[in-house]
Amino acid sequence: MYNPPDAAAPGTSRPRDAGFPLLEVRDLGKKYNSSRESIVAIESVSVNLAQGEFLSIVGPSGCGKSTLLKIIAGLSTATSGSIRLNGSEIVGPGPDRGFVFQGDALLPWRTIRQNVALGLEISGRDREAARVRTDEMLELVGLGEFGDRFPVELSGGMRQRANLARGLALDPPVLLMDEPFAALDAQTREIMQSELLKIWRQNKKSVIFITHQIDEAVFLSDRIVLMSARPGRIIGDFVVPIERPRSSAVRFSDEFRELNREIWEQLRDEVTRANDQSKVATVKGSQSTRRGQRTRRR
Ligand SMILES: Nc1ncnc2c1ncn2[C@@H]1O[C@H](COP(=O)(O)OP(=O)(O)O)[C@@H](O)[C@H]1O
Ligand SMILES: [Mg+2]
Repeated sequence: MYNPPDAAAPGTSRPRDAGFPLLEVRDLGKKYNSSRESIVAIESVSVNLAQGEFLSIVGPSGCGKSTLLKIIAGLSTATSGSIRLNGSEIVGPGPDRGFVFQGDALLPWRTIRQNVALGLEISGRDREAARVRTDEMLELVGLGEFGDRFPVELSGGMRQRANLARGLALDPPVLLMDEPFAALDAQTREIMQSELLKIWRQNKKSVIFITHQIDEAVFLSDRIVLMSARPGRIIGDFVVPIERPRSSAVRFSDEFRELNREIWEQLRDEVTRANDQSKVATVKGSQSTRRGQRTRRR
């Protein structure tokens, strides 16, 4: 099942003749510099997204998944490498990429409708067209009745639907999702996963979905790319052969379980390494706190 990332063309998981990729990430690197230290978050990351593909990126906490996605979104800049969308270099955010943030990123002082309309407003969309589009999106995610409520009045699952509606409002061909369901309980998450697949199929989006949950990635994706512990590099590229449309029942199939197991085998060492890194960071952090206390006592 494992295809080395460079099996076909450099950094691609498919032969060149499978079609021009929609999105091409080439040799991407990102180093964060602060006064205390510099951290290499990702290194030499190359990955392609095909038109209409649902791609998940799985990796341990702190391995640079959000960093990678933010650079693709144009919200952050790379230290090295390049990203091309339809052959053109990405230099900043654009309506061709919708971003669905981790957790709940709604503005608490705006109603759900006003939150969903935010991107349309910023892009200067005609008011009436924006209203119609916003209502369509609310209907699409099952929040037609809740447009005038404020985020605090909605459940976690409903807020995540609103997040999704906001990401979809500008009708971007590419949807970038950063652990959108991580904060939800298991049942709500399963429902949201099925809803997302329906929307993806009906609206013909190309998706990059970040998660640290292997079963979520297997259920949703055409392909799964694995990242190492920091600095994040691509260490695996799996095709998910499970037929679509997928119902929740596929989670109980041998095929599903076997792929989960195979991916976990490959990821386990990286998760251990990431945990060790965070222990070191915690020890460093507590030492500096103690130093801070000594300073204050003087
Ligand atoms: N703005 C930032 N400044 C400094 N370091 C950062 C910044 N954002 C992320 N990092 C560091 O980069 C590494 C990768 O972070 P991130 O991309 O958020 O990982 P993930 O999403 O996989 O959990 C972490 O060590 C994190 O502490
Ligand atoms: Mg993250």
